[in-house]
Amino acid sequence: MSKQTHQTWGGRFTEPTDAFVARFTASVDFDKRLYRHDIMGSIAHATMLAKVGVLTAAERDSIVDGLKQIQAEIEAGTFEWRVDMEDVHMNIEARLTERIGIAGKKLHTGRSRNDQVATDVRLWLRDEIDFILGEIRRLQQGLVELAARETDTIMPGFTHLQTAQPVTFGHHLLAWFENVDRDHARFADLRKRVNRLPLGSAALAGTTYPIDRELVRDLLGFDDVCRNSLDAVSDRDFAIEFCAAAAILLTHLSRFSEELVLWTSSQFNFINLPDRFCTGSSIMPQKKNPDVPELVRGKTGRVNGSLISLLTLMKSQPLAYNKDNQEDKEPLFDAVDTVKGCLRAFADMVPAIEPKREVMREAARRGFSTATDLADYLVKKGVPFRESHEIVGKAVRFGVEQQRDLAQLTLDELRQFSPEIGEDVFAVLTLEGSVNARNHIGGTAPAQVRLAVAEARQRIGG
Ligand code: ARG
Repeated sequence: MSKQTHQTWGGRFTEPTDAFVARFTASVDFDKRLYRHDIMGSIAHATMLAKVGVLTAAERDSIVDGLKQIQAEIEAGTFEWRVDMEDVHMNIEARLTERIGIAGKKLHTGRSRNDQVATDVRLWLRDEIDFILGEIRRLQQGLVELAARETDTIMPGFTHLQTAQPVTFGHHLLAWFENVDRDHARFADLRKRVNRLPLGSAALAGTTYPIDRELVRDLLGFDDVCRNSLDAVSDRDFAIEFCAAAAILLTHLSRFSEELVLWTSSQFNFINLPDRFCTGSSIMPQKKNPDVPELVRGKTGRVNGSLISLLTLMKSQPLAYNKDNQEDKEPLFDAVDTVKGCLRAFADMVPAIEPKREVMREAARRGFSTATDLADYLVKKGVPFRESHEIVGKAVRFGVEQQRDLAQLTLDELRQFSPEIGEDVFAVLTLEGSVNARNHIGGTAPAQVRLAVAEARQRIGG
């Protein structure tokens, strides 16, 4: 018993922690990022302890004051983080005792690091979710305003990346609006499950002190308290859910990225991205690379990795807290940082997209994009759809041989394929005729896109 044992739990130990083990088990290098929320939680806990008579008002005041000064030290960069104090919680508590003496040693009454860390992560994540929700809205705003300018711009719509039918660029942009709108809904929904208070669960079974969890819940702005102490200290499903929503969001952004990469290529040439979102090549002077979308596309892998890490971390863990859970932080932090970075890049970049309307239109004109319109035209004249499909197929083959689009064929040429074709066919073969004809909710007609823009603006409160 002569050797110096650990400051926090040395009572039971006969020798100090091995130096490597201390470093290996420490989390302070990354969990110090939770300091603000740790202090917030501790202030609420101390306030409650004083209210129920476990601390005196003087002790509470000294704790609250000490914690605020520690926060100031951390923010000024003068706080000394100690690896031997393992994590953010014990670092702050040790410093508190150093500053205010005996009252500092009472802060941890009725609490464990198990309910403390679960509380900190939830408080921290709640703030991050709120920021992310705002960034998704900012991206949606960019999309809807760009769509509003491009309601009448015609581009080829694709299936299998082959020209399919003409669509309006505004309609295409609103497709991206819709899928990130669901991401917004997913984050807003999982926030409800994040926003529950674990404190009061203590190590696993609750505590013998006459605590007032409702008060702490209220002070910290949680919607409810966690209803079971074993569950509250041990589960990290809220972090898994966050990563799942993040992975879906990044999957969407990766698809959008892929389109931007294609569209900026000289082969498509549909849009220009301003130079500030691109980089050059160190060897090829002509290059202007769409690095931002490429990088976002690549970062999807990181977030998927975080999701798999957390699922695997949680799998098969017996109740209640296990040290495994310390490993929840880095993947979660990385997912949050990645999502924020990607959203910022996209929200900044989307309003700067410069469409090349003539190139888009020209691309839609090539590739027989109005062939379905001709088939529908024949159906309306009484030809069964399968027959009209066949007739139009032949007309397209003729056009391919002639290197002319359907609208460039003469009436006589078209009539070789079906006598039902009349002068009025040219109205349906034009790009405008084609998009205007799809005039229903969810359709690509400019009139519908204008309505969709108005509805979308309303949905995001813009
Ligand atoms: N640093 C720990 C974590 O992140 C805090 C909780 C530790 N609890 C314990 N009983 N060792 O999970």
